[in-house]
Amino acid sequence: RTVFVNGEYLPETEAKISIFDRGFLMADAVYEVTSVLGGKLVDFEGHAVRLERSLKELDMKAPCTKEELLEIHRKLVEVNEIDEGLVYLQVSRGSDGDRDFVFPDPETTEPSLVLFTQNKPGLADSPAAKKGAKIISIEDIRWGRRDIKTTQLLYPSMGKMMAKAAGADDAWMIEDGHVTEGTSNNAYFVKDGKIVTRPLSNDILHGITRKAVLRLAEEAQMQIEERLFTIDEAKEADEAFTTSASAFVMPVVEIDGVALGDGTPGALAKRLREIYLDEAR
Ligand code: PDD
Repeated sequence: RTVFVNGEYLPETEAKISIFDRGFLMADAVYEVTSVLGGKLVDFEGHAVRLERSLKELDMKAPCTKEELLEIHRKLVEVNEIDEGLVYLQVSRGSDGDRDFVFPDPETTEPSLVLFTQNKPGLADSPAAKKGAKIISIEDIRWGRRDIKTTQLLYPSMGKMMAKAAGADDAWMIEDGHVTEGTSNNAYFVKDGKIVTRPLSNDILHGITRKAVLRLAEEAQMQIEERLFTIDEAKEADEAFTTSASAFVMPVVEIDGVALGDGTPGALAKRLREIYLDEAR
């Protein structure tokens, strides 16, 4: 596959980044994942705006303009012939050639920009979404700025591994008795026709899919309540689901071994997935 690294399109085997890059040494980097459906980028604008915000919150320089980013996304989708899949983008603070906790001088240090595509045929028509996901709950021990999309993904990776070890698919995280979000998605449950999800704050990522799905739910006259909720409430729900750029709307059928409803994807989650994909395609 052809990838993009610091201004160049290269075969993936030829792309190089310094070992002193702060993205590598300190996870001093932010990222975005944008889905591709029918060869088209889904909500590029939303991801570009969130990237700008992440960079600003960390005093990181933008590597290029939004228009240039769009151009790179489009070119990679085209040359790699992606019909359904993902574009991964990462910006790190770069490096001045040594390891130091102090940020390098932004006047003399350029951020690193890396993009690559992931080909995922059948992403929209996924068997996993037809089956629904089994979730376990784990403690949320991540840092307090989860609204910034940094590459500090060790704990979310461990969460997925804990889920796998328990025979489940994913984990929802709990802080102070309330669900924050999934390891790589936002979390929702449905009770008596009402969709409940945690309100936006520094505690969760402001999902681009979340925003689109809540708008679509509102347009479809569904009831929405943004409030804190417990894992016990979710276990007693009629249905549950998650949203993310990589899995769209994913029905949840089991939480900590407790089946939701009849243990198959809920009607509302399935409908939201359809509505979302219809608009995105
Ligand atoms: N993850 N919450 C977390 C912690 C996430 O990592 C993600 C996305 C989301 C959903 O955000 P969005 O709808 O903008 O994709 C919520 C991406 C897909 C990933 O890490 O691969």
